[in-house]
Amino acid sequence: MDDLKSKYLSQIANAADENALETIRVAAVGKKGEVALKMRELGKMTPEQRQEAGPALNALKNEINSAIMAKKAGLADAALDERLRTEWLDVTLPTRARRTGTLHPVSQAQEELTAIFAELGFSVAEGPRIDTDWYNFDALNIPGHHPARAEMDTFYMHRAEGDDRPPHVLRTHTSPVQIRSMEKMGAPLRIICPGGVYRADYDQTHTPMFHQVEGLALDTDISMANLKWTLEEFVKAFFEVDNVELRFRASHFPFTEPSAEVDIRCSWKDGTLKIGEGDDWMEILGSGMVHPKVIAAGGIDPDVYQGFAFGIGIDRLAMLKYGIPDLRAFFDSDLRWLRHYGFQCLDMPSLHGGLSR
Ligand code: DAH
Repeated sequence: MDDLKSKYLSQIANAADENALETIRVAAVGKKGEVALKMRELGKMTPEQRQEAGPALNALKNEINSAIMAKKAGLADAALDERLRTEWLDVTLPTRARRTGTLHPVSQAQEELTAIFAELGFSVAEGPRIDTDWYNFDALNIPGHHPARAEMDTFYMHRAEGDDRPPHVLRTHTSPVQIRSMEKMGAPLRIICPGGVYRADYDQTHTPMFHQVEGLALDTDISMANLKWTLEEFVKAFFEVDNVELRFRASHFPFTEPSAEVDIRCSWKDGTLKIGEGDDWMEILGSGMVHPKVIAAGGIDPDVYQGFAFGIGIDRLAMLKYGIPDLRAFFDSDLRWLRHYGFQCLDMPSLHGGLSR
């Protein structure tokens, strides 16, 4: 029995892992193990011998079992120590380069133009995308019967029968923010209002939702010359090239008098859109001297204040600057397109830092 004991205790002490330990357990104290075989021999013994050998065998069995348990716990501790030693993380390491989202070209263009107009002293104003037809039309000198209402392809909000609140529309332009800003801030005033607008229209250069930036400058001594200078400065800064060619065309808008539209020279050769060359013109903005009725609708005295306003298509600016020939792709949410045309979201454009590095 002493031999058995020392044999198994040393095997247990040297067991490398739990599997080895289990093999030893079966061989020693399993049903057919050496200790069990010895116990079977008890039957052949004399009662005196049995009285001595029985408890001794039981004690041996218990001793081997507890040695196995103790060794098992020791092995588990060692395994945990080993895991803790190998599985660690250096939290001071820099993060791994991962695929991050990108800034949509429209957002990028909006950040860029905001930086430019900020340098010119314009602050950013906002208004609701769902507005009353008064702000969207009447206040801008477009009364109910005016053909401009029909031309705008307006989306009207549904009204329940008996609802006597004023009709609401998805704003067809950012011009209603002119009125809201005049009401809120009075004059003198120098603001831009970028944002989404809606019209039922769909082709290569039109989508039902697109973006404009409205501009409004009101003061006591503003002329068309200020408007022209501001727009030329803006376009030069935005396109970051010297050869942008602009065309001012006399036009008509109910909310300005006189009015001008501005086109940029471009070419559409072989499916690529290029700015500053070719025989095509792309219209990018409408502008003019604010109509006295509009100034009055904003609660300001048109005999004291006058000013200029403009509305620029942001999506078209982005198409021209980044050579994107189809406006519809802007809103397809195609990840490959977004990764290709997207911008680093942490690079804020500024005039001194470079607009679109
Ligand atoms: N609201 C016009 C449009 O959506 C653009 C526009 C033209 C805005 C002349 C102006 C302006 O502020 O003075 O077509």
